[in-house]
Amino acid sequence: MRCCFRLGLFVALALFECAAQTPTYGIGKSPSAEELRAWDISISPDGDELPAGSGTAAEGAVLYAQRCAGCHGKDLEGRRGVPRLAGGKGTLTTSTPVKTIGSFWPYATSIWDYINRAMPVGGEGTLTANETYALTAYLLHRNEIIGESTQMDAKSLPKVHMPNRTGFIPTRIQDLRRGRCARGPCP
Ligand code: HEC
Repeated sequence: MRCCFRLGLFVALALFECAAQTPTYGIGKSPSAEELRAWDISISPDGDELPAGSGTAAEGAVLYAQRCAGCHGKDLEGRRGVPRLAGGKGTLTTSTPVKTIGSFWPYATSIWDYINRAMPVGGEGTLTANETYALTAYLLHRNEIIGESTQMDAKSLPKVHMPNRTGFIPTRIQDLRRGRCARGPCP
């Protein structure tokens, strides 16, 4: 009898739990495929989500002068409140590290993602895929990571090896939970 009571209680709780997890308030609507596409713009390090299109540093230089130099400087030097976009290579282990997208960022695909979602400030979302590839290529070239005529696209960009690619210690959440980390000391 006690067992049946417990079972009954368990079933009641389980049903309550199910009901609590799927509330219907009768408001809102499911997003359309188009709305989801506009929102789902994240590019992962391996670049699987990168769109079609391409660009080179030579094309990017023209765009940079028109749309970016006003804030980041003619020579990518940055200014107060606006980060410099080149240099710093080899300084991370010194007492005066200079962190830039070239010296610090581990993935070239993140540069594409960042420009696509957040630049230029005030005109976010206005760059085409080709323009974003060209600007990414220009920044990589100015950081001496790729050549001026190397074409960047969905295939070549993820293959670019960033100088600080191995400078981060990957950790997996399971390892942290178990109190150990995948490689090296736990952060
Ligand atoms: C109106 C000023 C402005 C314009 C124009 C602008 N940026 Fe930026 N940019 C910023 C600011 C401010 C930041 C820093 C934002 C932050 O850290 O939250 C930034 C950050 C960045 C970063 C990340 C740098 C880092 O080290 O964190 C990149 C890459 C970048 N901009 C590229 C571009 C490109 C490419 C263009 C031209 C299409 C552009 N920006 C145009 C103001 C601007």
